[in-house]
Amino acid sequence: MRTARNTADLRQSLVAWRGAGETVALVPTMGALHAGHLSLARIARARCERVVASLFVNPAQFSPGEDLAAYPRDEAGDSRLFAEAGVDVLFAPGADDIYPPGFATRVSVSGLTECLCGPLRPGHFDGVATVVSKLLVLIQPDVAVFGEKDYQQLLVIRRLAADLGLAAEIVGAPTVREEDGLALSSRNAYLGAQERTAAPALHRTIAGIADALVGGDAEAAPLCEAGRADLLAAGFSGVDYLELRHAETLAPLARADAPSRVFTAAHLGRARLIDNVPVAAV
Ligand code: PAF
Repeated sequence: MRTARNTADLRQSLVAWRGAGETVALVPTMGALHAGHLSLARIARARCERVVASLFVNPAQFSPGEDLAAYPRDEAGDSRLFAEAGVDVLFAPGADDIYPPGFATRVSVSGLTECLCGPLRPGHFDGVATVVSKLLVLIQPDVAVFGEKDYQQLLVIRRLAADLGLAAEIVGAPTVREEDGLALSSRNAYLGAQERTAAPALHRTIAGIADALVGGDAEAAPLCEAGRADLLAAGFSGVDYLELRHAETLAPLARADAPSRVFTAAHLGRARLIDNVPVAAV
């Protein structure tokens, strides 16, 4: 695996691959890799002849007061794991390469960003949409792979790719979980031992609600209200949201009588954890 530190360097590989008629997949990451990221790399590997993984802790997607400075960083370890996963080029640019002096463009997706994490993390989705647009335009991959754990992000990226006429197929990859159900996340590193014991309540709660909603007859609101109470009883200090929403538009739903998912974000110690699960269709 080769590491490209800037766009000019990355272009050399891209030109050679395209010249040879090879297909290219992109796996965008902010590093601090776990098995979830590696599953994205494996999907990319299976879909295309060449794989680029990007590693860029994107300052633009951290809201004021969030954990940009503390965000876990381990480029040497990440590099080893990406190489083992069959990545051809690791694109690890500096901030000046992504946001050169005078950078003044922002990609903003309306609608999908106005609920769930959007209002709670001002500027976050604009930061994600801008950096992902830049990567998609620069690399022009055939396929780009994103995890379903960040499901709202996945929908935002699908929307921007369609709206901007970008050719990449945006592939969603299933959430990878610990045996006790906790979704893998770089931010799980913030959990202390006691918090780690409480953390699986998040998935257990939304999975239970999703089960109760199958068939489309049950009311979501009382189940979500009880779920909030369960999370607080399990040791979470606050629940930002626990809601049933349409799986494609994110419109709120009273019952699971359309393709839907249960979404949550909640605070446990220093960590803000998010998760979501589909309500199975009958
Ligand atoms: O999901 C992430 O790790 C980031 O939001 C992404 C897509 C790499 C953009 O910085």
